[in-house]
Amino acid sequence: MTSIAVVGCGYLGAVHAACMAELGHEVVGLEVDLERVASLNDGRAPFHEPGLDDLLARGLASGRLSFTADPAAIAEVEVAFICVGTPQRRGELAADVSHVDAATATVAAHVTRAGALVVGKSTVPVGTAPRLAEELARTAPHLELAWNPEFLREGHAVDDTLEPDRLVLGVTSERAEAVLREVYATPIAGGTPVVVTDFATAELAKVAANSFLATKISFINAMAELCEAAGGDVVLLADAIGHDKRIGRSFLNAGLGFGGGCLPKDIRAFMARAGEVGADQALTFLREVDAINMRRRSRMVDLAIAGLGGSAIGRRVGVLGAAFKPHSDDIRDSPALNVAAQLQLQGADVVITDPEALDNARRLWPGLSYASTAQEACEGVDIVLLLTEWPEYVGLDPDELGTVVRRRHVLDGRNALDVRRWQAAGWDYRALGRPHV
Ligand code: UDX
Repeated sequence: MTSIAVVGCGYLGAVHAACMAELGHEVVGLEVDLERVASLNDGRAPFHEPGLDDLLARGLASGRLSFTADPAAIAEVEVAFICVGTPQRRGELAADVSHVDAATATVAAHVTRAGALVVGKSTVPVGTAPRLAEELARTAPHLELAWNPEFLREGHAVDDTLEPDRLVLGVTSERAEAVLREVYATPIAGGTPVVVTDFATAELAKVAANSFLATKISFINAMAELCEAAGGDVVLLADAIGHDKRIGRSFLNAGLGFGGGCLPKDIRAFMARAGEVGADQALTFLREVDAINMRRRSRMVDLAIAGLGGSAIGRRVGVLGAAFKPHSDDIRDSPALNVAAQLQLQGADVVITDPEALDNARRLWPGLSYASTAQEACEGVDIVLLLTEWPEYVGLDPDELGTVVRRRHVLDGRNALDVRRWQAAGWDYRALGRPHV
């Protein structure tokens, strides 16, 4: 059992703290937001993440997990994980690392145990770890830094943390590696591969993985543009190339493209950093990846307007999905809300529904209209847009939904609906990258 602090209990930190307690460690989560501290100490995650409430309840009941705003509580820990956010800087591509700097300074000021390990998990521009290590050498020489990027996906965060695909340990000493191997002894014993690296490689591993995933999605979305122009079917094309083991079928789902708090901001920050370290040409392709991704949203708006007969003014649109992806209430850079807002701006009367993200959507986009069920959102609409592929929307009965709409016209922004079933129920079905039959 290791005594652990998790600094920053937002999405990453709350999940990490609960999972570390689940692995048998003694964990204190340090968080400045008092409401969040209270909610976590009550066993309630302040966001939707399957399985997390159960884990919090178990950790709290075991007495090995607690949350506080008081930095004095981390004085004796052996390991302090830095789990704060690195948002995109306003008006710039680059990431804002000020929270990482502040969290590291808090650890330096409050962790007194000699030899304690400070472990960065936040996604940072390459070069941050050596800078922080220098800082610690000056301000808190009794502490050592390691970098251990996090690859969790929203909606699967608990499993991704308890049984990760791999662990990347960026270390500068054998002792630091040994401490981290001890912390992750359970997944390592279960077969999780470990890649031990220098700081730069560990920092790069995270943004490289996200850039690759974003590129894969934009690649298939570029093929969707080709399919639309040449009459092909991108879903069959993805199957046809995805069976090649070297390519693989996952992350080849064409549609509205990627959003969320990671992929878009990470590829932009990575491009910005490449320029700063003198490798500006290496990542110019990511500009194209970003552009293809954003084009999908405007293509969806164009298709919707075409489906409404050329103008959105005064027409009713039912939108299924607000979250940037299913099983999440996260609406950061949500393609669904972006499309909904664009249609509203063009004069449509848009009603949005989502099983989990409505509260967040209402807060950020109070000017849009919301309904709590698909049926309500689609009441009397001229067109239905599936923008987030929640299972409850994918499984909707097209006959039943057909009874509430004004016109049976559906636009599948995620290539998730059963085309034949919807067509058999008399719906005019259109999707991105598929022929209109
Ligand atoms: C991502 C990475 O997967 C994760 O490893 C990293 O730690 C954080 O960023 P996340 O943002 O939670 O995780 O979502 P992910 O499942 O990767 O999906 C990202 C976006 O891509 C979503 O908007 C999703 O709808 C979209 N997507 C995904 C596609 O459009 N097509 C696909 O085939 C897969």
